Amino acid sequence: MVCLGNICRSPLAEGILKSKLNNSFEIDSAGTGGWHAGEKPDHRSIKTAKDFGVDISTQRGRQIKTSDLDYFDIIFVMDESNYTNVITLCKSESQKQKVKLILREANLSETNVPDPYYGDATDFIHVYNLLDNACNIIAEKLTNEQ
Ligand code: 4NP
Repeated sequence: MVCLGNICRSPLAEGILKSKLNNSFEIDSAGTGGWHAGEKPDHRSIKTAKDFGVDISTQRGRQIKTSDLDYFDIIFVMDESNYTNVITLCKSESQKQKVKLILREANLSETNVPDPYYGDATDFIHVYNLLDNACNIIAEKLTNEQ
């Protein structure tokens, strides 16, 4: 799960998808930027997740590294800007094919998970609901493929 800062959207995506899959799946998140490496998720993401019964408080931010593009089977990005940034890091066509816009992969009508960083609590709840809907579909697909 990849966003820009790895403190608002992708930690929520990581926590939500983990809550829907068994331990045989390895799910992680990262930011295209490294400004928040080592930090906890944004307190508003932690609170929103907690209100929905998901604990993301033990996550710590990190920047995406090129080895992630080999190690992970699917790289879900939150918006088209993240998509461009991650595609730029790819060194092969097979790496590029792993990169998916999370809402499009879940066939949701919106393309981008909006960045809530400069928003308020309702923006975080909107992001949570978008990701929860997407992760329901993704978890079902991945479980069926298992
Ligand atoms: P995120 O949100 O990409 O969903 O984690 C952001 C968090 C921090 C910044 C930008 C976006 N920032 O500029 O520090």
